[in-house]
Amino acid sequence: MIFLATSKDKIYTQTLADIAKESGAALWTKEQFEKELNLTCAQIFLCATADTKKVFGFVCFRVYQDEAELTNFAILPSQQNKHFGTELLSFALTYLLNKNVKKITLEVNTQNKKAKKIYQDFGFKKVAIRKNFYEGKIDGELMLFTAPSKL
Ligand SMILES: CC(C)(COP(=O)(O)OP(=O)(O)OC[C@H]1O[C@@H](n2cnc3c(N)ncnc32)[C@H](O)[C@@H]1OP(=O)(O)O)[C@@H](O)C(=O)NCCC(=O)NCCS
Repeated sequence: MIFLATSKDKIYTQTLADIAKESGAALWTKEQFEKELNLTCAQIFLCATADTKKVFGFVCFRVYQDEAELTNFAILPSQQNKHFGTELLSFALTYLLNKNVKKITLEVNTQNKKAKKIYQDFGFKKVAIRKNFYEGKIDGELMLFTAPSKL
């Protein structure tokens, strides 16, 4: 199951920090996830097992009027490559587009082939390269998703 977290979902923040650490996503601590949950501009979507509600993935955005930025995204390694990441992102993008978000940006390590493939499959396009963005060695790629115009 996939759901949008609210400030009441603080119980999951340690789990989210653990998933971030284990998967190699942006290394947010429990406290950072807690802060994020309290921000009105932040939207955090979680995926969890339907029966026990055990959370195993998240995707985070900050939304500014009709623009959003994807700030963190991870699936627990044991659950990767089962299309949960794709389902989670699809849910989140549908939600944001329904809230009138028109543009979404994100920044990805150019060597992260899997994440880049997923973003490209959803229509994100490369708009800039940030030279040596990661540890002063690996380039970052800034990607942009533009909502299709309604006829
Ligand atoms: C990126 C991440 C969230 C994706 O979640 P996931 O559940 O593993 O991804 P999915 O199973 O939905 O999709 C994987 C897709 O990538 C493909 N893939 C897997 N490994 C790949 C590789 N090395 N190169 C290219 N594509 C690859 C799969 O074939 C699949 O494509 P398909 O839908 O056409 O079959 C997850 O792998 C993760 O947490 N990674 C570590 C953190 C991270 O990189 N976050 C993104 C930061 S920008």
